[in-house]
Amino acid sequence: MDFDIKKIRSDFPILSHTVYGKPLIYFDNAATTQKPECVINIISEFYKNYNSNVHRGVHLLSAKCTEANENARKTIQKFINANSSKEIIFTHGTTDSINLIATSFGDKFINKDDEIIVSELEHHSNIVPWQLLCERKQAKIKVLPFNEKGELIVDKLKNLISKKTKLITLNQVSNSLGTINPIKKIIEIAHSNNIPVMIDGAQAIQHQKVDVKKLDCDFYVFSGHKIYAPTGTGVLYGKEKWLEQMPPYQGGGDMIDVVTFKKTTYNELPFKFEAGTPNYIGNIALGKALDYVSSIGISNIAKHEKELLEYGTQKLSEIENLIIYGNAKNKTSVISFLINGIHPYDTGMVLDKLGVAVRTGNHCTQPVMDHYKIPGTVRASFAFYNTIEEIDVLYEGLLKVVKMFN
Ligand code: ALA
Repeated sequence: MDFDIKKIRSDFPILSHTVYGKPLIYFDNAATTQKPECVINIISEFYKNYNSNVHRGVHLLSAKCTEANENARKTIQKFINANSSKEIIFTHGTTDSINLIATSFGDKFINKDDEIIVSELEHHSNIVPWQLLCERKQAKIKVLPFNEKGELIVDKLKNLISKKTKLITLNQVSNSLGTINPIKKIIEIAHSNNIPVMIDGAQAIQHQKVDVKKLDCDFYVFSGHKIYAPTGTGVLYGKEKWLEQMPPYQGGGDMIDVVTFKKTTYNELPFKFEAGTPNYIGNIALGKALDYVSSIGISNIAKHEKELLEYGTQKLSEIENLIIYGNAKNKTSVISFLINGIHPYDTGMVLDKLGVAVRTGNHCTQPVMDHYKIPGTVRASFAFYNTIEEIDVLYEGLLKVVKMFN
């Protein structure tokens, strides 16, 4: 399909809104993306016409929702090229997926004095669940550092790996800097040492083609809301060989086979990890969002976002005393920056009044900010519905900020 930006923008109702009388310019896509009409519509369509609990009823409505929920699972399987839909677990988001792995994989495979390697570029959600696990198990975390450009120093990995390393966990793309990490290479190094790898794809899946078979990662997790789907949806992909060995995460309905007071047995994959009524209408809408992304074409998305990144980087670099944090060779469409002497919140507040939504603060990556010895940044993160003209408004807004505060 042709990349028709006008048509694409008209698919997203919120993009025609104004804030403070100014057209909304939404540059906070790394925090959450806006939703296309087809995703919004399918939610109301299902609640209006078909709502019924899944995997539980013989009646027509339950069958309809069950079928749509399982079709969404197959859509996800195809989208990331997993071997089987048994390897696709519905969760509430990336954080939930990581906590599931940390608890279940952790309980089974992590013991006293074992080591887990995380990168210094991680979001708190890929640090804290491992710290909690390490506290429980008296295990240790080791950290793979990054350089001044915001690129992981992969050469240091071999010094961190030991016989006690039981897992390497890192993101494919940094949420605060936009760095695209060389995960294929890291997975190869890990596997040559028999170490499984978990990839946090929350900031990657919406920007580039993800093929879990080609990557050969052991786990891959992402959130629905960052890829144009509703909040509260998410995915955990795990190789069947791991998921089969891992104990259930939460107990409840649907995850069981036979329950007696003497002994309970568990359901097969993927249901073993889906206790309780799932967010089935959210899952169905997630499937719809992935179909929508596929209809635009992920390579068209990547191409347009690359143009936005290049234009934005060049334009913002023209502003005196503006420092961009994260200058990796491979980046997604994220520009994290500070204007010397101006607090990020002040910049964010002025931009807001001009209709430009950006995120300010540490972006849930305090170790990244500590590395640069800064309290936080202003982050403009672009999606495929953003335009060059919108970046011009950001640029003009930043000139105003400079004038006001300097
Ligand atoms: N993790 C999200 C972000 O980077 C919320 O903003």
